[in-house]
Parts: sequence; C-alpha cells; structure tokens
Amino acid sequence: MPGAAGRDTCRECQAALDGPLAKPALEVARDVHARVGFGCASCDGGDPTQEDPALSMSRAKGFVGKITRTAIPRTCARCHSHAALMHKFKPQQRVDQLAQYLTSVHGKRLAQGDSAVATCTDCHGTHGILEVRDAQAPTHPLRLPTTCGRCHADARLMARYGLPTNQLAEYQASVHWEALSLRRDLSAPNCATCHGNHGATPPEVSSVAAVCGTCHALLEELFRKSVHQPLFATMERGGYSVCHGHHRVQRTTVDMLDGAGAVCAQCHQPGSSGARVAAEMGRRIRELKAALDRSDQILARAARDGMEVSEAVLRQQEGREALVKARVAVHTANLEEVLAWTNQGMAVAQTTWRAGQEALRERDRRRMGLAVSLCAIALAIAGLWLKLRSVEANRPGW
Ligand code: HEC
Ligand code: HEC
Ligand code: HEC
Ligand code: HEC
Ligand code: HEC
Ligand code: HEC
Repeated sequence: MPGAAGRDTCRECQAALDGPLAKPALEVARDVHARVGFGCASCDGGDPTQEDPALSMSRAKGFVGKITRTAIPRTCARCHSHAALMHKFKPQQRVDQLAQYLTSVHGKRLAQGDSAVATCTDCHGTHGILEVRDAQAPTHPLRLPTTCGRCHADARLMARYGLPTNQLAEYQASVHWEALSLRRDLSAPNCATCHGNHGATPPEVSSVAAVCGTCHALLEELFRKSVHQPLFATMERGGYSVCHGHHRVQRTTVDMLDGAGAVCAQCHQPGSSGARVAAEMGRRIRELKAALDRSDQILARAARDGMEVSEAVLRQQEGREALVKARVAVHTANLEEVLAWTNQGMAVAQTTWRAGQEALRERDRRRMGLAVSLCAIALAIAGLWLKLRSVEANRPGW
C-alpha cells in the first residue's frame, strides 16, 4: 500500500484528462500526503506502476474506485489510526481521530447510513489536504467557521434535523470572532474549541460553564460561589449561556444588569430582591465610572495648564482596576462583593478629584501671583518713564 515510489500512472493519466477528472491530480500536488510520497493508490487502491488501465485499475490489485462517503473514515484511518506508521512520519501525531469521530453526532449518524453529516474530507478536503494549521487549510481557526457553516448554515439540509442554522451568523457577530478575525487573537474560541473537532457534540448542559471557564477562569471561580451556579446547572441552556448566549457573545455593558434588555430581568421580577440587587449593582458601578471620568477630566485640565499631577494620574489606574473587579464581581450575585470594589474605587476617585482641584487652585494662585508681579513691574516701568521725562524736561537748553 503506502509509499509507492517511482511511477504513478494514476496521476499521469488523470492529469492529462480534461475537466473535473483532472482536478484531483492537480490538487494532489500540494497535498501533505503527496509530500511524504503517498500517491493516489494509498487511498484509491490499484497498481500505479501499470500503464494499462485494465491492470492499474484492477479490482485484483485492490482498486476501489470511488470511495463511498460512509467508507471515508475507515479509509483515512487505515493510516491515521495506525500508531506505528504515523509515528514514523510525525511522532507527536494523535491516532485517535477515528475513535473520537465515532463518538460524535456526525460519526454516529454516518454509522447509521446518513451520509449528509461531516466526514473527514468535509473538514479536511479530499485531494489537496494541508496541514491543519496551514493558513489555507479549511481547519485553520480563521476558516473553520465557514467550513462548519457550509452545512450548518444550509437551511435546507438542517431542516431535516430540526436544527437552527444561525450559528455561523451569530458567531460571526460575536466578540470572540472579532478577537480572532480582527486582532488575530488565536486564543479566542472557534467552533471546534467549544465543540471539539473529531468528537463534535454540543457541549453537554453541565459542561457549558466548563467550556467558557477554560478561558474565563476567574469568572468561573466567582460564578461557582454564587447562588446561581447550582440553579443554572440544572437548566437546559445552563451556565454562562443564560446571560451571554453562546454563539453571539457580546461585549458586556452595565445595562445588562438593569438597563434595556437586562439579563437579570429574565428571572427577577421588578421589585423583587434579586431585581433590587441588580439595580443597586448597576447604580454603584455607573457611579464609580462617572466619578473616575470626572477625575480624569480635572486631571487632564490641570496637566494641560502645566501643573504636576502625575501621581494622581497614576492612582487613577487603581480606580480603573477596582471598576473592572466590581464588574467581574457581579458574577457572585452578591451585592457585598461588588460594593467592596466600588467603595475602594470611589475612595480613589475622591482622592484624585481632590488632587485635581488642589492643582487647579494652585494654578489660580500662581496666576494671581503672576498678575500681581506683572502689575508691579508695569508700575515700576511707568514710574521710571515718568521720572525720565521729568529729568529731560528740567534739563537746561542750549
Ligand atoms: C467536523 C470536522 C472534522 C472532521 C469530521 C474530521 N476532522 Fe480532523 N480535524 C478537524 C480540525 C478542526 C482539526 C484541527 C484541530 C487543531 O487546530 O488543532 C483536525 C485535526 C486533524 C488531524 C491533525 C492531528 C490532530 O488530531 O489534531 C488529523 C490527522 C485529522 N484531523 C484527521 C482526521 C480524520 C482521519 C478524520 C476522519 C476519521 C477527521 N480528521 C475528521 C476537523 C475535523
Ligand atoms: C497511506 C496512509 C494515509 C492515508 C490513507 C491518509 N493519510 Fe493523512 N497523513 C498520513 C501521514 C503519514 C501524514 C503525516 C505527513 C507529514 O509528515 O506531514 C498525514 C497527514 C495528514 C494531515 C495533516 C495533519 C497535520 O499534522 O496537520 C491531515 C489533515 C490528514 N492526513 C488527513 C487525512 C484524511 C482526511 C485522509 C482520508 C481522506 C487521510 N489523511 C488519509 C497518512 C495517510
Ligand atoms: C458535511 C456537512 C457538515 C459539516 C461540514 C459539519 N457538520 Fe455538524 N452536523 C451535520 C449534520 C447533518 C448534523 C445533524 C445530525 C443530527 O443532529 O442528527 C450535524 C450535527 C452537529 C452537531 C450536533 C447538533 C445537535 O444538537 O444535534 C454539532 C454540535 C455539530 N454538528 C457541530 C459541527 C462543527 C463544530 C463543525 C465544524 C467543525 C461541523 N459540525 C461540520 C453536518 C455537518
Ligand atoms: C464559545 C463556545 C462556542 C462556540 C465558539 C461555538 N459554539 Fe456552538 N454551541 C455552544 C453551546 C454552549 C451550545 C449549546 C449547547 C446546549 O444547549 O447544550 C452550542 C450549540 C450548537 C449547536 C446545536 C444547535 C444550536 O444552535 O443550539 C450547533 C449545531 C452548533 N453549536 C454549531 C456551532 C458552529 C457551526 C460554530 C462555529 C460557527 C459554533 N457552534 C461555535 C458553544 C459554542
Ligand atoms: C478558547 C478561549 C475562550 C473560550 C472557550 C470562551 N471565551 Fe469568551 N473570550 C475569549 C477571548 C480571547 C475574548 C476576547 C477578550 C477581549 O477582546 O477583550 C473573550 C471575550 C468574551 C466576552 C466579552 C468580555 C468583555 O470584555 O465584555 C464575553 C462576555 C465572553 N467572552 C463570554 C464567553 C462565554 C459565555 C463563553 C462560553 C459559551 C466563552 N466566552 C468561551 C476567550 C474564550
Ligand atoms: C435564569 C434565571 C436567573 C437569572 C438570569 C438571574 N437570576 Fe438571580 N436568581 C435566580 C434564582 C432562581 C434565584 C434563587 C431564588 C431566589 O431567591 O429568587 C436567584 C437568586 C438571586 C439572588 C439572591 C437571592 C435574592 O433574591 O436576593 C441575587 C442577589 C440575584 N439572584 C441576583 C441576580 C442578578 C444581579 C442577576 C443578573 C446579573 C441575576 N440574578 C440573574 C435566577 C436567575
């Protein structure tokens, strides 16, 4: 089977054909398999050293011809689940893709004969297979969403399964995709980060919070302390998704507490103690933000007028950090935890505000001092001038 060196009559003939039949032979040129010497026969069978098509494509030589979709995973797995073979080429390579795949929704369906689900070639390509992290590969983080979306955004296909088709559009409107596509932040999640690639299943209800928590560890820790954690865990769309959704995850705002479209109001009726806590959290966080903004402004004005306020400007950072911590503490659903940080931030904002005021007063004092001394100088000059004139006037003439 593999490694047939020397002639590859499959490629030679196929490339000489016109139209779509030539495509595989041309694409295979950049294929990762061709690079290590595997030809068409590695998958398609046959004898690539024979010129005569009757011999090269003989069933006796194992020619399989068109591989049916349901046979694809095992075709690839002949090598990819073969540890000894794979380790010769790539010692670090995993060899559990088929095993994992069989546990996924895709794999289970395929095993039942449903060939509309994803198999190896839908995600990796067929004849131009590239290394998974190659920027051109359909599995590259920037390309994977559209690879999944080819089926999952196809309304006709998904209608059969009663699945929604908005995941791609929603995901592409999320803060995660923004981080990935605009800032090239590869630490942001793509479809496979949350769903797995070979074991693609929806994260179980109980693991939804765990999915988010693998990256948002501090939030996870605070959320675990909250009254909500055990309650949300029993909900169908539990964990973080209750408030943030899972595909269209947006940048957070204070309005999520008590503004238009507040997430807390989904469950806490106006006037209930939960709603009151949410409103109080919102009020305190806004108050702190406004106070810090005010301090920023007064310090900027003082600095513009040449006053030395760098120490207060530096302290403002402490206040900003307290603001971030207060917003994060919302996940405890405990007012005291939020107030601990807003109080600390307000103390900073008051200090820096006073420093700004003091700097402006000092500026006014200096301006006043300057004005007084300018007047004194002007008076002195005027005096001198008068004196000079009187001396001139009194000089005896010739
Ligand atoms: C639903 C899409 C999907 C299917 C189906 C799929 N893969 Fe993958 N595969 C991926 C993604 C995505 C990665 C890359 C993960 C990463 O970036 O590390 C990957 C990685 C790989 C790798 C690199 C090593 C590794 O495990 O990370 C190999 C080899 C591989 N797949 C082979 C297969 C084989 C063989 C099959 C069929 C049994 C298969 N894949 C089915 C999406 C898929
Ligand atoms: C004849 C053996 C063989 C068969 C059959 C085979 N592969 Fe491979 N594949 C390999 C080897 C060996 C490598 C590692 C090449 C290298 O050194 O980069 C590889 C690499 C890959 C990679 C790149 C992994 C990475 O590290 O980025 C992907 C993806 C892949 N194969 C997918 C498939 C798919 C999909 C199929 C079925 C359509 C398949 N392979 C069939 C042997 C095979
Ligand atoms: C070739 C088409 C195709 C591609 C490509 C594909 N899928 Fe699927 N997927 C399906 C079909 C069809 C189903 C429906 C199976 C079912 O629900 O019984 C499915 C089911 C799923 C499910 C289970 C949904 C549920 O709740 O039942 C998840 C999760 C999923 N796919 C994720 C992915 C991810 C992530 C990718 C990309 C890495 C991907 N799929 C690529 C066709 C595809
Ligand atoms: C940040 C994590 C995350 C990312 C990224 C993500 N998903 Fe999901 N996805 C989830 C969660 C959580 C669920 C809900 C699971 C549940 O309800 O049990 C879900 C549900 C699904 C479902 C089941 C049907 C549905 O809509 O509820 C499909 C299909 C799916 N996702 C496909 C995708 C595809 C395709 C992408 C990429 C375009 C993607 N997901 C990106 C976390 C994610
Ligand atoms: C693979 C890591 C990863 C996973 C998993 C993940 N995130 Fe994120 N998340 C990020 C990154 C990176 C950012 C971007 C940070 C930035 O740009 O400020 C982000 C940003 C966010 C933001 C915006 C924060 C803000 O500044 O307002 C929210 C909300 C969020 N994620 C919620 C979730 C939820 C809910 C889940 C699970 C369904 C989840 N994340 C899963 C990495 C992840
Ligand atoms: C999915 C529904 C749901 C959402 C969304 C939700 N809660 Fe709750 N919350 C509950 C339930 C259920 C309880 C426990 C029963 C109770 O005491 O009302 C609870 C309890 C509380 C409590 C302690 C008990 C009390 O009533 O004082 C506070 C405080 C609270 N939530 C605040 C919030 C805040 C703030 C938000 C928004 C960030 C929020 N909740 C979002 C369902 C929810």
